[in-house]
Amino acid sequence: MSESLARTPEQPSADGEVSSARFWNAAQGGKDNYERDRAAVEAVEKIAPGITADARSARQFLRRTVRWAAAEAGVAQYLDLGAGLPLEPDIHQIVRRYRPDARVLYVDNDPVVLAHQSAYQDPPLSSYIDADMRDTDVIMNHVADRFDLTEPVMLTFSSVLGHFSDEEAHGVVGRLLAHLAPGSCLMLSHDIPTPSIIAACEVYSSAPGALPYQPRTIEQLLRFFEGMDIVDPGLVPLFEWRPDEETEITEIMGYGAIGRIRA
Ligand SMILES: C[S@@+](CC[C@H](N)C(=O)[O-])C[C@H]1O[C@@H](n2cnc3c(N)ncnc32)[C@H](O)[C@@H]1O
Repeated sequence: MSESLARTPEQPSADGEVSSARFWNAAQGGKDNYERDRAAVEAVEKIAPGITADARSARQFLRRTVRWAAAEAGVAQYLDLGAGLPLEPDIHQIVRRYRPDARVLYVDNDPVVLAHQSAYQDPPLSSYIDADMRDTDVIMNHVADRFDLTEPVMLTFSSVLGHFSDEEAHGVVGRLLAHLAPGSCLMLSHDIPTPSIIAACEVYSSAPGALPYQPRTIEQLLRFFEGMDIVDPGLVPLFEWRPDEETEITEIMGYGAIGRIRA
């Protein structure tokens, strides 16, 4: 595995290149993307039919998990790492239905997302910061300004951690969790290394400017939740996690779970 799979902040996606945020937005059926992003999605879909359904499914999972956190677990503070492009309903719009006082902080480091950040800005309840999530001290300074760290926070890593090596991904998750109160939640969704996904990641990663993405096994994903309680139904295919009427059953399956810090 490479030392660092993620682009450094000094190497933003240049004009003419595919961006992770735009690629994923195109795969999810969003409108904030260019022809080159849609072409990259088509190329991946040819190799791994169902990858666009997988992308939509990941967004549906994100929506269900934050709804569960706000409605059933009473969490009122959300930190979304690698937020990507806004695609309504976004987290602040969902959680506010159950917790009108909820605070949401979105983080990304792609200039493309920065250009669309106004959809995330609804101060003081929702805001966006342009930061590399590996700079956890910078992120925690922003978090401390906006959140009450004696109360639970939910971290969401939706289709993001595959951009990082094990060392980086565990470092980011561990450093952020270390600041959080009991009852706080870690949500992650991630692709697993089936033959289709491996082929899809190879095609995607070869597109100019693409941030390489590596799938992880279920055992590797479980390591992120060590020492936490995993919320029912556990680490499962995304569509098996508390499905609702919007949930698509997909052939290519990401996996996802929520862990909670014990009281
Ligand atoms: C595949 S997209 C997922 C977007 C969104 N979370 C979703 O589920 O729709 C990955 C996102 O992570 C962001 N990202 C990648 N590396 C990052 C880093 N080092 N710091 C902050 N964001 C990063 C990308 O810019 C992109 O928006």
